[in-house]
Amino acid sequence: MKKLIAILAGGISGERKISLITAKACAIALKQKGYKIKVVDVRGYFLEEIKKIKPAIIFNALHGRYGEDGFTQSILEYIRIPYTHSGVLSSSLAMDKELSRLIFKKKGIKVPKYFILNQERNLKLKKNMKEKNISFPIVIKPINEGSSLGVFICKNNKEFLKNYKKLYDYKKIIVEEFIPGKEIQAAVMGNMPLGAIELQPKRKFYDYKAKYKKNSGTKHLMPARLSKIKYNEVLSLAKKAHQYLGCKGITRSDFKFYNNKFYLLELNTQPGMTSLSLVPEIAEYKGIKFPDLVEWMIKDASCKR
Ligand SMILES: Nc1ncnc2c1ncn2[C@@H]1O[C@H](COP(=O)(O)OP(=O)(O)OP(=O)(O)O)[C@@H](O)[C@H]1O
Ligand SMILES: [Mg+2]
Repeated sequence: MKKLIAILAGGISGERKISLITAKACAIALKQKGYKIKVVDVRGYFLEEIKKIKPAIIFNALHGRYGEDGFTQSILEYIRIPYTHSGVLSSSLAMDKELSRLIFKKKGIKVPKYFILNQERNLKLKKNMKEKNISFPIVIKPINEGSSLGVFICKNNKEFLKNYKKLYDYKKIIVEEFIPGKEIQAAVMGNMPLGAIELQPKRKFYDYKAKYKKNSGTKHLMPARLSKIKYNEVLSLAKKAHQYLGCKGITRSDFKFYNNKFYLLELNTQPGMTSLSLVPEIAEYKGIKFPDLVEWMIKDASCKR
């Protein structure tokens, strides 16, 4: 008989809605594969519920803060139930766009020019931009969000001040140069790069609506329109990024491709698994059907990740 799997769903981050959709899709896939499934709607501390269910494996379908950033992973290490995706440290590092970038840069992966504004709100925007040789348009975003929540492109100082106010509750903001060009995302499965997809949003950029609204008009081009050399290059960069952070399971790295160069925006340790999501689409192209992909994640689950 196949194992009992608990799926952690929802959570308390801004990406709760997306996590519920990810969890539902994965639950259907695992049921198809013959597993027994219990979906746990996480609205805070979930340990008591897990103790009652006594699952053999935990599929972590949470996205964003508290689910994807090491908090949940440390609870799962503590209770010693094998779980999917990356471990505590890798998850924390990847969720923090400031710390993960320090590692990427140190290891020679190109990232956009950027600086951090902390909560003291000692703005000095112009001075910082000059020092870093960054000019408008700029992109501002929280260091630890996902699904493009809180990402703003600002053409001038007035736009910056308007959008910056909306991010007031975040401790740290990242300010970076705007990189035009292609939007390329690459998936890694274990230690194997799976493929790279190109997104062509109809909207100003690949924002929340362009990601999740069915009629947003975003085109998915699989495989990405790159020369063979560049395609292999982005796969190799995604694999390196995955390894440098010590990731496990599946990850997805988001790049911009401009002037023949790849700029790594970030690495996601718990990429979306909805019907519009990119990792399942990349896997499908490689001949891996969605239920097989999710089952691979279950088989890959462990503790001490
Ligand atoms: N420096 C940049 N230059 C151009 N576009 C950018 C830049 N930074 C972010 N963007 C746009 O915003 C989108 C979201 O950015 P990013 O991946 O950093 O945020 P996120 O919220 O962590 O996303 P995810 O949903 O992948 O977790 C990018 O896919 C891109 O379209
Ligand atoms: Mg992204």
